[in-house]
Amino acid sequence: MHDHFIVTLDGPAGVGKTSLARKVAQALGIAYLDTGAMFRVTALKLGEGAWDVPGPQLARKLAAMTFGLEGVGEDSVLFCDGMPVGDEVRTEQVGMWASRVASRSEIREYQKAAQRAISVRTSLVAEGRDMGSVVFPKARHKFFLDADPRVRAQRRADQLRAMGQSADLDTIEQSIRQRDDLDRNRAIAPLAPAPDAIIIDTSKLNLEQVFTRIMDEIRRKPHVL
Ligand code: DC
Repeated sequence: MHDHFIVTLDGPAGVGKTSLARKVAQALGIAYLDTGAMFRVTALKLGEGAWDVPGPQLARKLAAMTFGLEGVGEDSVLFCDGMPVGDEVRTEQVGMWASRVASRSEIREYQKAAQRAISVRTSLVAEGRDMGSVVFPKARHKFFLDADPRVRAQRRADQLRAMGQSADLDTIEQSIRQRDDLDRNRAIAPLAPAPDAIIIDTSKLNLEQVFTRIMDEIRRKPHVL
């Protein structure tokens, strides 16, 4: 367990965290954990309006859910209730539901425990909103990515089109701004860089450039590799 280390990648919607987390994990030969996907699948399973369900009822439903992570690098696969989590969670609507359920303390506590349990078994690149600030405050490397909302909307639109979904740029930008607002202003674990995170503005950088920047920082602490 003492050989395990964690790299955290936090930031708002559409900043490129998932692509980067996959790439960094692949380069390091460790697993990556997409915690946005954990919130998304939770929101999808609980259904619309789960954010208004009374606490004890929510806690009972959560207690019946299990998470697991298999594989390393780009082959890391997140499981929920024994089934791989796939593209069904990657819609703007499920993203919005996830953002709304993510404001509930019962959900955040449950997710935090599940994320830490996964980290006990393996080294991780963990991406999300509160990885460096709340879930893994002792992570060895912490990064916080940011970018202009319009640039993020464009990236999200490209992603959705690549998956064969329709994408209107203005609608996506509006949804990204709305989600930023929810994620940055919630009472518990709001989206914010940890004090010791390296902040990277990716607005004018491509994936490769951000990747190189992250890997350079990681290599600066040689005991990791
Ligand atoms: O990264 P994403 O777009 O897949 O995340 C979906 C939502 O889940 C996001 O708007 C807020 C929530 N989330 C969170 O609150 N904390 C995390 N660590 C990851 C995601």
